[in-house]
Amino acid sequence: EKQGDATRSDGKKVHEFSQQEASGIQYLLDNAILEWTPQAVAEFLYKEEGLNKTAIGIFLGEREELHLQILKAFVALHEFSNLNLVQALRQFLWNFRLPGEAQKIDRMMEAFAARYCNCNPGVFQSTDTCYILSFAIIMLNTSLHNPNVRDKPTLERFISMNRGINHGEDLPSELLTKLYDSIRNEPFTIPEDDGNDLTHTFFNPDREGWLLKEGGRVKTWKRRWFILTDNCLYYFQYTTDKEPKGIIPLENLCVTVVDDPHKQYCLELFNPQGKKIKACKTETDGRVVVGKHQSYRISASSAEERDDWINSIRASITKDPFYDLVTVRKRKMINDQTTD
Ligand SMILES: *[C@@H]1O[C@H](CO)[C@@H](O)[C@H](O)[C@H]1NC(C)=O
Ligand SMILES: *[C@@H]1O[C@H](CO)[C@@H](O)[C@H](O)[C@H]1NC(C)=O
Repeated sequence: EKQGDATRSDGKKVHEFSQQEASGIQYLLDNAILEWTPQAVAEFLYKEEGLNKTAIGIFLGEREELHLQILKAFVALHEFSNLNLVQALRQFLWNFRLPGEAQKIDRMMEAFAARYCNCNPGVFQSTDTCYILSFAIIMLNTSLHNPNVRDKPTLERFISMNRGINHGEDLPSELLTKLYDSIRNEPFTIPEDDGNDLTHTFFNPDREGWLLKEGGRVKTWKRRWFILTDNCLYYFQYTTDKEPKGIIPLENLCVTVVDDPHKQYCLELFNPQGKKIKACKTETDGRVVVGKHQSYRISASSAEERDDWINSIRASITKDPFYDLVTVRKRKMINDQTTD
C-alpha cells in the first residue's frame, strides 16, 4: 500500500511523470528529488510503481552518454540467471514499453542480450546470437497470436528459420522447442498495449486487384491488375501474365487521396522531393524502359477500396525497423566469422 503518497513531497511530481512523456523524469531530477546518478535513476525507473512505461522506454532509449549509462544500470537490475530466453524477455519487456524507433530498439535489445549472456554463460556463442534469437521470438509471438496473421509457423519451421544463427552452428532443438512451446502457450504481453505490437508493419497483408491507371504521356486510363508486394507495386495487363507491364518501387514515395476531374476515387503516388519516380515499364515490343512519371494517378471502384489500397501502400512504405535490425546483425555475424 502506498499510503505515504499523499504526504510525500514528490507524490505529485511522480504522478506528473506518469502522465507526461519522457521529459517528466528531467523534471523530477531538476527538482532534486532524485540523485542524478545512473544507478539512482535506474533504480527509480525500475522500482517506482505507476510510472508511464511508454515514457520509460523513450527515456531509456535516448542516445546521450548519461542515458546509455542509465540503460546499462537499468538492465543490470534484472536477474536472468537460470531463466530461459523467453522467461527473461517476458520480464524485461514488461518493465517498459519498447519504443518504435529502430536505433532505440537496437540499443535496448543489445543491452538485454549482453546482460542475458552475462547471467547465462555458455548458452549462446555470442551476444549477437542472443540478439537475433530474441527478435525471432518476438516475431514468433506476433505470428502465433496476432489474428491478422493467417500463416502460423510450426515448430519445424521455427527451428529451420533459426538454422546456423549460433555463428554457423545450430542451436539445440530442445532449447528452440522449449522457447516455441512457451510462446505458443502464452503470448508476450507488453505494457500499455494499444494494439500496435512491435512488429505490426512486418505482417501487413499485401494486396492485389483491378484498378485504373492513368498513362504517363498519353492521359488515357487503362485497366490493370495491381499487386503490392516487397515494397513494390506491380501492374499487369491480365491476371495470368507472368511479366508485369510495369514496376513502381515504393521507396521514398508518398501516397494520398486526390480529386480528379475525370475519375472518381483516385489516389496518387508521388515523390515528396518532386523528383521523377524511378519506375520501369515494358514496351509493346518487349523493351524495358524507365518510366516517365512525375506521379502516378490510380482510380479505384469505391472510396473504401481506394482507402484500403492507400493504407496497404503506406504500410508497405513504412520501413519495418525489426527486419532491418536483424538483417544488419546477421550480416555482422557472417563478417565476423569470415574474418576470424
Ligand atoms: C504515456 O506516455 C506516452 C508517451 O509520452 C503518451 O503518449 C501516453 O498517452 C501516456 N499514457 C498515459 C496513460 O498517460
Ligand atoms: C504478442 O502478440 C500479442 C498478440 O498479437 C500482442 O498483443 C503483443 O503485443 C505481442 N507482444 C510483443 C512483445 O510483440
